[in-house]
Amino acid sequence: MQVVAIAIPAIYRSTVGKKAVMAVTGGILVLYLVAHMIGNLKIFLGAEDFNHYAHWLRTMGEPAVPRRTVLTIIELVLGASIVLHMWSAVSLARRASAARPVKYQSKKKSHAQGYATRTMRYGGVIIAVYVIWHLLDLTFFVVNPKGADATPYQRVVADFDPSRWYITVWYVVAVLLVGLHLNHGIWSAFQTLGMRSPRSHNALRGLAATTAALVTLGFVAVPVSITFGWVS
Ligand code: HEM
Repeated sequence: MQVVAIAIPAIYRSTVGKKAVMAVTGGILVLYLVAHMIGNLKIFLGAEDFNHYAHWLRTMGEPAVPRRTVLTIIELVLGASIVLHMWSAVSLARRASAARPVKYQSKKKSHAQGYATRTMRYGGVIIAVYVIWHLLDLTFFVVNPKGADATPYQRVVADFDPSRWYITVWYVVAVLLVGLHLNHGIWSAFQTLGMRSPRSHNALRGLAATTAALVTLGFVAVPVSITFGWVS
């Protein structure tokens, strides 16, 4: 037991350990996003189905376990994954800049790597701000026009009302950033997990891009359909 307790921080201190933490926590977050996106699409089945789904999220596992037990476990795992993912990202970025006191010699390399790094870094920060907004909106109802005395369906529909088109734009921009982040993140995780090879290169590139595109399209569909009046 003691060996494990000592070994975990030692592994975590290494660059490979931090990358592994990023890959595993990123994987958990991707699974959550896919499930969340599929759940959101229930809005197209109508108010009753969507509200039933929101109710099920809270009563999952009943009567074996009390209400909200499974949801609370999911929330704790998600929260821990987000914190560990961001923490590893910051410490890897610090380590990379400490190891490179002189800027890249080749401009070409600096541009290509700089683009991916900037997209991940600033995109990640905007996504974190978005998640906080989104929780205040649809989990704690603080910034939602309908508030706590409404059904989940009414809250989502009120959120993206045509008069609040700027909220839709904000959600769509954030979700597009999530898509870019997923595309690069999944691809990087394949590298960390040692899955990339010349033979698997194209298939894994396609898998990362397809997953990112499907998640993005699924998420964008809901706010856009409400703002255009296709769902009301
Ligand atoms: C743009 C489309 C999206 C819509 C319409 C949407 C809708 C919702 C709704 C209705 C809830 C409350 C579920 C409930 O408890 O009944 C929720 C929760 C949540 N969403 Fe989203 N969401 C979207 C995109 C995202 C994205 C892109 C992320 C992450 C980057 C995300 C992360 C979360 C989280 C962390 C929760 C809280 C889960 C919990 O603790 O209960 N959502 N979302």
